[in-house]
Amino acid sequence: MKSISIGILGATSYTGLELVKLLGVHPLCELAFVSSKSYAGRPFSDVFARAGTVEDRVLISPQEAVSHSVECLFSCLPHAVSADLLLPFYKKGVRIIDLSADFRIRDAGVYCRWYKHEHPAPQLLEQAVFGLPEVYREHIRSAQIVANPGCYPTSVLLPLIPLLKDVDTEVNAIIADSKSGVSGAGRALKLTSHFVEANENVKPYSIGRSHRHICEIEQELSLASGSEVSIVFSPHLMPMTRGILSTIYFQTNRSPGECLSIARQAYQREPFVRVRERGELPATADVAGTNYCDLTFSDGNDATVIAVSAIDNLVKGAAGQAVHNMNIMFDFKETAGLPR
Ligand SMILES: NC(=O)c1ccc[n+]([C@@H]2O[C@H](COP(=O)([O-])OP(=O)(O)OC[C@H]3O[C@@H](n4cnc5c(N)ncnc54)[C@H](OP(=O)(O)O)[C@@H]3O)[C@@H](O)[C@H]2O)c1
Repeated sequence: MKSISIGILGATSYTGLELVKLLGVHPLCELAFVSSKSYAGRPFSDVFARAGTVEDRVLISPQEAVSHSVECLFSCLPHAVSADLLLPFYKKGVRIIDLSADFRIRDAGVYCRWYKHEHPAPQLLEQAVFGLPEVYREHIRSAQIVANPGCYPTSVLLPLIPLLKDVDTEVNAIIADSKSGVSGAGRALKLTSHFVEANENVKPYSIGRSHRHICEIEQELSLASGSEVSIVFSPHLMPMTRGILSTIYFQTNRSPGECLSIARQAYQREPFVRVRERGELPATADVAGTNYCDLTFSDGNDATVIAVSAIDNLVKGAAGQAVHNMNIMFDFKETAGLPR
């Protein structure tokens, strides 16, 4: 099979580093460029001294990157910046996998409400495909723009979507309590990410209806169910580098065992979702460095079931899922180059 040439915008990000490592050993990818705004002209090893085969690569600016011809572009840029810098590549016909939130939200008005600025390219929203392979595989195959899902949304959507799609299953009063490692906040300096603030500390943040991932989660749950779904979402920062654990409470007419059967049926051929037995509660250490989502269901009370899921935010929640999407788009073996 023929290799493809790829480029990475924002390669100096945490998700970019993860992509560089994955794509550096992918059997069917040739890395054409790695870009950075702040470090353009410097070797990648000036930023990360542990990037394997690309350490000596010189970072180029996003503007210079446009002159390179690539078949697939990954963007690890912040929202708004991403859609702007992707446009010239889009116009050249390059297939794009955007790790930012810019193309995840179908409605530009909803995006504007949650992200507090006008969408930079609303004309492209209609053709962007939400890159959750377990749900949108067939659309991803032919997409020019794939919106890689957020990390928290991946962990909440995978346990719930099969239940919401099942017409005989009621799912109500969803409360997602999620915990993330500090790399989820990115590499830019922030007080809350400082070692002294984050270490030996567990802290909720953006609780209530303020975290931006709520609109993405509700959009996809509503599409799965065919009617409006609303959730309560409480994210927490954990004193660990990577990983997300979501504990999701919901009222249902199903027992945990029935929820497990529905999930098993939905994911029986999925290479990266492991439906665990009831007693086998997922843990971040079990999925660290892999592209797996582990999930299970347990008893809450008579009317409540508890779903638990675990992912690595930088792999299944970002770079790994992006490589999975690329494998689907270019008709490669879906598991190629992905850690399990
Ligand atoms: N962290 C996660 O767990 C995670 C998971 C899923 C999705 N995401 C999403 O993936 C994207 C990257 O996240 P991250 O956490 O890996 O980011 P990060 O570590 O904070 O890095 C941000 C990157 O964006 C570049 N950048 C920032 N402002 C820029 C500008 N004005 N023009 C050009 N480049 C600019 C930086 O480049 P230089 O400093 O080199 O100039 C850096 O490479 C974000 O959209 C994020 O929401 C993150």
